[in-house]
Amino acid sequence: MRLGIVVVAAGSGTRLGASEPKAFVALRGVTLLEHALTAIARLDEEARVVVVAPSIRLDAARDIVDRVLAPGYGSVVPGGAERQDSVAAGIAALAESGEPIDTVLIHDAARALTPTAVFARVVARVRDTSAGVIPALPMVDTVATTDGGDAITGVADRSRLAVLQTPQGFPFAAYREAIAAAEAGHTDDTSVFAAAGHPVVTVAGDEAALKITTPWDLRRAELIADERALVPVRDAGGRDASATGGPALRTGVGIDVHAYDETAECWLGGLFWPNEAGLAGHSDGDAISHAICDALLSAAGLGDIGSRFGVDDPRFADARGEVFLTATLALLADAGFRVENVAVQLVAARPRFAPRRVEVEQHLSAILGAPVSVAATTSDGLGFTGRAEGVTAIATALVSRTAADPSADEPRR
Ligand code: CTP
Ligand code: MG
Repeated sequence: MRLGIVVVAAGSGTRLGASEPKAFVALRGVTLLEHALTAIARLDEEARVVVVAPSIRLDAARDIVDRVLAPGYGSVVPGGAERQDSVAAGIAALAESGEPIDTVLIHDAARALTPTAVFARVVARVRDTSAGVIPALPMVDTVATTDGGDAITGVADRSRLAVLQTPQGFPFAAYREAIAAAEAGHTDDTSVFAAAGHPVVTVAGDEAALKITTPWDLRRAELIADERALVPVRDAGGRDASATGGPALRTGVGIDVHAYDETAECWLGGLFWPNEAGLAGHSDGDAISHAICDALLSAAGLGDIGSRFGVDDPRFADARGEVFLTATLALLADAGFRVENVAVQLVAARPRFAPRRVEVEQHLSAILGAPVSVAATTSDGLGFTGRAEGVTAIATALVSRTAADPSADEPRR
């Protein structure tokens, strides 16, 4: 293995104030360390991984390593008093592994949601340049210097500032020498490397790579994880089976029911149906479009229309089906999925569907960029559809993965 990765997780998490050391705190039910290792396990390139853990949590760290990484790729060592000591312990363990490592990454477990693409970018840049490489984001806040009290002494030029993240990457041999020679007190790894006279360059970081320090950060990370579907889902064997790590093709199902509302306009399948009773709902009641959204979200493992597009979100009040479908497509694209096809069954006494079936199919296919077939039936006078109280639409969807990681080429903000 040419790639070594040190994950420092030995801090106590004082500022987070949880009952566990920070790396063992859960974010949506998954520990920060497990999140961080899952992103690493998704790398194409094999890596030798050393987790540096608090000495009172070595067994817990080993359990997580064994669950997330394939056997033989990970080990756990105890950390030191300062971050820099923990990094040194990890580097020493990598050196002792006997692997022919040319590139090392050093990563904070506290940056639990760092996407795999950021790791890959850093590795590629280290090999291209032989420099130290650090993911960075442009500074968006105004930054001032103070006199140490409440007086501002200057405002920094924001265009020349960057926010630094991890993983930071280095040519392994040069970094070992640099850390051996470093004085204490470095809080990040590129400053160790720069102090030894080596160049350091940046690559694009990612908002999701925020360092979880305070309870506020943890909450923000939870929201980012929800938005990007970053919480790993495990199958029965404990393997990663989430939206970014599961099979290449996935199916989903969705169902929607709306009651007739004689006073509303009728919108169904994204089309206007003149002289027909409308459908009641927070939006336009387009059961076909809504069932399709649920089927697509279900296929991609992204939740459902209710949790994604809440009734209190003003963008979706009275919104047309097309608005939901387009927003759903964007979520799928973000998560790395494309639509293969969709099939819908409408159960409704009215409107009479057959005369416009092809028109609906063409309209929906154009929106989704994939074939949509729609069938319609009545329920032979039975049930609420038979009594003409409302309509039911049932949809299935097939989606496929567009890339191992959709953010691979483009930094995400
Ligand atoms: N870290 C470490 N060993 C230390 C201190 C920190 O391995 N002696 C690790 C942390 O586990 C974390 C990363 O370095 O993944 C960044 O540190 P920080 O965010 O400051 O975490 P903590 O030190 O745990 O938090 P706090 O400073 O609030 O106690
Ligand atoms: Mg700390």
